[in-house]
Amino acid sequence: MQAGRTTPAGDFDYDQFGRGYSQLRRTEPRIAAMVHAALGNARTVVNVGAGAGSYEPRDRYVVAIEPSAAMRAQRPREIAPAIDGVAERLPLDDGSVDAAMSTLSVHQWQDWRRGLRELRRVSRGPVVVMTFDGDEINRFWLAEYCPEVIAAEHGRFPPIAEIAAVLGGRTRVQKVPIPIDCVDGFTEAYYARPAAFLDARVRGSQSAWGFVSAEVQERFVRELTAEIENGEWERKHGHLRSEPVFWGALRLIVSEPWGAHPKHRDEDISVAWASPGSSAQQGPPPRTRKNDSMS
Ligand SMILES: C[S@@+](CC[C@H](N)C(=O)[O-])C[C@H]1O[C@@H](n2cnc3c(N)ncnc32)[C@H](O)[C@@H]1O
Repeated sequence: MQAGRTTPAGDFDYDQFGRGYSQLRRTEPRIAAMVHAALGNARTVVNVGAGAGSYEPRDRYVVAIEPSAAMRAQRPREIAPAIDGVAERLPLDDGSVDAAMSTLSVHQWQDWRRGLRELRRVSRGPVVVMTFDGDEINRFWLAEYCPEVIAAEHGRFPPIAEIAAVLGGRTRVQKVPIPIDCVDGFTEAYYARPAAFLDARVRGSQSAWGFVSAEVQERFVRELTAEIENGEWERKHGHLRSEPVFWGALRLIVSEPWGAHPKHRDEDISVAWASPGSSAQQGPPPRTRKNDSMS
């Protein structure tokens, strides 16, 4: 028998629109390395809004929580099955896992503050949240071609400083560099591949497009197609094709409870990785400082 719910747990209906998610939204290994480093030496981890299992560590005991049956069904057989549940009400005891994580999910929760308090409650160690900074998403060229999708997204993402404040403890925020050939197809992943947005399957795997009308999408596709064909996109943004990474709006927020003594320093989270086709190592990314507790 399949567990189920009658209404989506978040602001996007993955049971209706998420069936092809895992084909285009896959773990980007260089980003996963940062997430896993942030989990420190945790042996037991709860992954909330776990979806098809992206970014889930394979070398630790994982409890996965995911409300959408269509997403649970896409989890590979070799990883733990996910429990039908929501962030706002985790079926775990206080301090029952070493770490809690959530990737690209918090902006969809009905009550993200309550959900984050739940992650903090069940973890005796770090809480690791990967999300986008809504105040930075308009720096991406997509804003020029489809301001409607950026406006819709802006209203969805909880402010980074508020996430940090709700999690409390000793909190740090890191910018996450997006590699040019990123295999996780979120919007900024295609910063140097504009033609990808002309593919309805690509847009369909990004929940953002669920918040703009078909007419707006048609206009966007028409105008972007024209500017790719007449060379205008290339003239304005072609320099991005030689940028091995994009420092966009992707952020990793790591909260350690007060009194915890993490085995790693902040710098260790930005694991060095070489961009494809480049021998250059990425140094520690620029720091963001949005409140006193962040470094
Ligand atoms: C964009 S997907 C991310 C999935 C996965 N974490 C990843 O990185 O690919 C967002 C996920 O959050 C889940 N979600 C939405 N609302 C939720 C809630 N209230 N509690 C837990 N998960 C939720 C959705 O069902 C969906 O699987």
